[in-house]
Amino acid sequence: MTPAANSSAAGTVLHSRVNPSTNRPGSMCPPVVIDLCCGRGGWAEGFLRAGWIVLGVDIRKFKDYPAPMIVRNVLEIDPRDYAGLVDLVVASPVCTEFSKLDSPGLFPSPPKPSLELVNACFRFARSLGVPIVLENVRGLQRMIGDAVQHYGSFYLWGDGVPPLKPYMPGRAGRTKLKWCHRSATLRARIPFELAYTVAQFHSNRLSYSPEGF
Ligand SMILES: C[S@@+](CC[C@H](N)C(=O)[O-])C[C@H]1O[C@@H](n2cnc3c(N)ncnc32)[C@H](O)[C@@H]1O
Repeated sequence: MTPAANSSAAGTVLHSRVNPSTNRPGSMCPPVVIDLCCGRGGWAEGFLRAGWIVLGVDIRKFKDYPAPMIVRNVLEIDPRDYAGLVDLVVASPVCTEFSKLDSPGLFPSPPKPSLELVNACFRFARSLGVPIVLENVRGLQRMIGDAVQHYGSFYLWGDGVPPLKPYMPGRAGRTKLKWCHRSATLRARIPFELAYTVAQFHSNRLSYSPEGF
């Protein structure tokens, strides 16, 4: 499939599920989140549980991603394909180079990482006029300034980051457990409680309450 065809297929996925005329605050129409650099679907699990429609975008196909996804480079997606269909963007661009900025013992003079992918995620949300929650590692602070919040080693930027403390159960330090995973993609997976808390916050913002919730 050509990139353009793939992109319009994504628009069709959303159009088939969302009626923009009823997707208004207070309606029962589920809100829609686009999950950029979606990986193994940590964000998706939390948003699906909260009743949202989720569309993942990643340059790699992950068979266990729990929602519809398109294999696409975020640097190439056209926000116009999603105009009026989306309520929120979540994004977890790759963090490897930013981690090196935070490990002077291991990487005494790391190369300056590119912000291209991070900026593309912010630009995508801005073009759609919807809030974004962008997750990355602490080292990204050296490039774009302080995170709004963090949950363990998951640092969050963007105008969609909710205040976590009153809502989050347990202690953030628990996420250190993630280092027991051998797979890098599983280590990078957003913890369910974080994704679900962010989803709940935005359900409230949009006055969305699924039946039987
Ligand atoms: C940190 S992982 C995402 C983890 C994810 N949030 C989760 O919960 O599993 C980063 C992802 O970005 C993807 N990626 C890297 N470059 C990309 C690009 N240019 N466009 C789309 N996805 C990209 C990688 O394939 C990887 O799955």
